[in-house]
This record gives sequence, C-alpha cells and structure tokens, in this order.
Amino acid sequence: MRVLVTGGAGFIGSHFVKRLVAAGEEVVVLDKLTYAAADGVNLKDVEHEFHQGDIAKDQALVAELVARCDAVVNFAAETHVDRSILSATDFGDTEFLGTRVLLEGVRGKDVRFVQVSTDEVYGDRSGGKPAAESDPVWPSSPYSVAKAAGDMWIPAYARTFGVNASITRGSNTYGPNQYPEKLIPLFVTNALEGEPLPLYGDGRQIRDWLYVEDHCAGIELVLREGVPGEAYNVGGGEERENIDVATEILALLGADPALLRHVEDRPGHDRRYALDTTKLRTLGWAPTVGFEDGLQATVDWYRDRRDWWEPIKSGEFRAYYERQYAARLGG
Ligand code: NAD
Ligand code: DAU
Repeated sequence: MRVLVTGGAGFIGSHFVKRLVAAGEEVVVLDKLTYAAADGVNLKDVEHEFHQGDIAKDQALVAELVARCDAVVNFAAETHVDRSILSATDFGDTEFLGTRVLLEGVRGKDVRFVQVSTDEVYGDRSGGKPAAESDPVWPSSPYSVAKAAGDMWIPAYARTFGVNASITRGSNTYGPNQYPEKLIPLFVTNALEGEPLPLYGDGRQIRDWLYVEDHCAGIELVLREGVPGEAYNVGGGEERENIDVATEILALLGADPALLRHVEDRPGHDRRYALDTTKLRTLGWAPTVGFEDGLQATVDWYRDRRDWWEPIKSGEFRAYYERQYAARLGG
C-alpha cells in the first residue's frame, strides 16, 4: 500500500508513519508544519515522501497526492484544548473544512480513509458509563466541537457517496515526541527544569491513558479492517486522576513534591473521559502497555532527550506558556 498520512509530522502521526514503514508500506506525508510539528524533526530518520501543505487550503495538492495513494489516514489537527479556548479559528478550519477537502479528494476513487478522532467528542462522562460508539456526541470545548464537526462528514460521505471511510476515537495518548504543552510532557520537562507543575483546579479530573504505540496499533487495525461509515473507540482502560499522574511523575524523577501547584482551572473542564472499547477488541485489538510501564518509558525518554525538547521550550512555546500560566502561577 501507499498511504497518505496527513499530520504525519506530529506526535501520534510520526509514530504511525514509523509503524507503517516498518510494516513495509510506502508513506507520503502531508503536513502544514505548525508549531506542533517541531520543525519536522520527528520524521528525521524515517524513509518517506514529504510535502508541506494545509489540508484545508491546498485542495490541488491534496487531490494530486490522494490520486497516487491507496489509503489516507488523517491525523492533521490543532490538538490542544487550552489553545482552542484562546482562539478556535484554526481548529474549525483544519478539523472541519480540512476533513471535507480530504474526503472530496477521496470521493469516487478506490481509496480507504481513516479519520483519527478523540474520546472528547462524547463530552464529560463523570458519573456515567464509558462512552460507546453508538452514544451521542456532546462536546464541551472548542477543540472537541471542531473534532466532532469533522467526524460528522465521515458517515455522510460513506452513505451518500460510498466513500470507504471510518473513524477512530482515541483516549489521552502519551509517549515520546509529544509536544510539551500536554499534561505528561509538560509536567515531566518542568520537573526536570525545577519549574512548578500547574495542576488545574482540584486535580481530580480523570483521563484514560493510552500509550502511543497501542493507539497506532488500533488505528492500523481500523485502516485494514474497519467497516465504512463506522467509528471505533481506542482507549487504554487506564483511568487516572491528574493529581496521581503528577505525583507519580515527581516520584519517578525524585523531584521535590512542592513543585506541584494547584492553579486556576481550565474553563469548561471535563471531569472524566472513559471509553467502552468492546467493538475494537472484537476485531482483535487490546492495549499492551500498562500505564506504569508506559509512564516510566516516557519519563526516561524525556530525561535522555533534552536535545529534542529544550529547543522547543525556548521557542514559540515560551510566549504561549507565559500567556497560559504566568498569571495562574503568580507572575
Ligand atoms: P499534534 O498536535 O502533535 O500534531 C498535529 C499535526 O498536524 C502537526 O504535525 C501539525 O503540523 C499538523 N497540522 C495541523 N494543522 C494542519 C493542516 N491544516 N494541514 C496539515 N497538517 C496540519 O497532534 P497529536 O497529538 O499527534 O494528534 C494527532 C491526531 O490524533 C489529532 O487529530 C488529534 O485530534 C487526535 N488525537 C490525539 C490524542 C492525544 O492525546 N494526543 C488523543 C486522541 C486523538
Ligand atoms: O482525550 C483525548 C484528548 O487528550 C486529545 O483529543 C487531545 O488532542 C489531547 O490534547 C488531550 O486533551 P486533554 O485536554 O485531556 O489533554 P491535556 O494534556 O491538555 O490535559 C490532560 C489533563 O490534565 C486535563 O484534565 C487538564 C489537565 N492539565 C493539563 C495541563 C496542560 C492540568 O492540570 N495542567 C496543565 O497544565
């Protein structure tokens, strides 16, 4: 197969590219190289064809690349909830408009399409059952609205135009190469720098943690065996309160527990995400990396790879961090 991986320079996308290449597939990457792509460094030593472009704006390039591929896996997105609260414009453009451009490229061709989505589209599951694929979407943040809106094209294009497209909905993913704005890499790198760990609100919010390789294995299975028009949940089954994750990171690094700071909460903050993964497990998928092992491996990677994250934290990230945290942390 030749697979077009959009957003392939980012965190999960780059792991997915490496996985496909190791499986003997040919990979074409289309990526806008936003701040989250870390200047394309994640794909440095991987055999692939690369194109810089925007899935929402570069229709001709999309059409040309799709015409040469057997499948498209769409990771391209603005992915940080806190940034979507500051401004959601790029989120709507990439997630909603961009997904339609890709589907228009695929329409009428024998090309498989997978839309990589998120458990956040189901909204807050506190006090309720884990979300099944048949549950309604009820997103809470501008990011998850944009993701849910993008998802809506999939069953419509499958039903109306016969496009061979499915959706995956993954839970909170962690591992090497994740941009240090997200909880785990932010807290690990801050602890390594002796900086405070800004925990939102009471820190009792729950996320279901999924190691990046397990997430990629789930997406690959849906690429190969998913039914058109259907969604598949990919959840680690490792629910943890944020405060426990933070405490574990500090312990693994032997860092001072006083670095943990409760700060003003995220507006609209969902208390819990949880997924029912029966459907994907029926296809043969199961997570293989437990949270404690995955966290240890991730902490080790960030401890060893300062060359990867130190340049990021001194660039665009610095201005974002000031805007997001300076007042919360008291200047
Ligand atoms: P990321 O932020 O690390 O990478 C996103 C990539 O998309 C970047 O390389 C960026 O340059 C690219 N991109 C952004 N806008 C683009 C555009 N208009 N055209 C082309 N490329 C564009 O993201 P990630 O954490 O690896 O997430 C990848 C996908 O998985 C996203 O769709 C996200 O919603 C989904 N997801 C992420 C998680 C998670 O916990 N990280 C969990 C579930 C689902
Ligand atoms: O659930 C899947 C989603 O997980 C993906 O779709 C998103 O792309 C990804 O960013 C992630 O969203 P979250 O908002 O859950 O991830 P984040 O790492 O931003 O936050 C995880 C939890 O930690 C959340 O409850 C907020 C909290 N948090 C986060 C940051 C950045 C803090 O307490 N302090 C922080 O500084």
